Amino acid sequence: MSDGFKTFRLQLRAETHVLHGTLETALTTRGLTGKRDDYVDLLASMLRIYRPLEAALARLDWSSERLDISSRRKSDWLATDLLRLGRDPSVIADWHDIPCLDSNLQGIGALYVLEGASLGGQVISKWLLDRLDIDTENGGRFFSSYGSQVSVMWRSYLDVLERAAVGEQNGKVISSTACQTFEAFHHCLTSDAVQHPPHELRVAS
Ligand code: HEM
Repeated sequence: MSDGFKTFRLQLRAETHVLHGTLETALTTRGLTGKRDDYVDLLASMLRIYRPLEAALARLDWSSERLDISSRRKSDWLATDLLRLGRDPSVIADWHDIPCLDSNLQGIGALYVLEGASLGGQVISKWLLDRLDIDTENGGRFFSSYGSQVSVMWRSYLDVLERAAVGEQNGKVISSTACQTFEAFHHCLTSDAVQHPPHELRVAS
């Protein structure tokens, strides 16, 4: 860890601060506009990237980290939200331009982004209810994330992060994968390739 940071997490937060801001802007201007269709497109883009990232994370062995990766899976929530909002998740193609997640250190870097998204999710959930009347039952399950358990889940992830980030080399791997993951999210969310399926593939709402 570099001098001046009490924890590796604070270093990582500083290193990814600009990437977070850019992604937040993309989400707000493209997906959280107040129009329901834009929100559904946002969920579709999220599913495109969460699904392959979570599949790669599930292929790693997390027993040494004592981390239950399946309890952090969120792509099923995205699929449920899409179905409830009338979009068929099975016709949405995966986004393949994701970082290499062949090691647990890389996985921990990607998880920083996936788990951190739950923190902003709390703000977004409130916005969804106020602006679109969307709650956990009618399309807001993904952003509500772990609900009252958000801090518990975040802190237990941070324990794994701090244990793994010993030594400069480990820190570099985690940090560069976190940055690549933020960038992959940005590319996916700002790509215009979200499939608008033909009407007959849409699920009746
Ligand atoms: C409109 C969209 C977003 C808003 C308003 C937002 C807001 C926030 C807020 C308020 C926090 C700090 C929470 C706290 O300290 O308790 C946070 C943290 C974080 N968010 Fe976001 N966020 C958004 C989108 C995202 C997305 C899409 C991702 C990743 C895919 C993400 C990743 C993170 C990460 C990694 C952190 C943790 C930073 C740290 O170490 O403290 N955010 N976000």
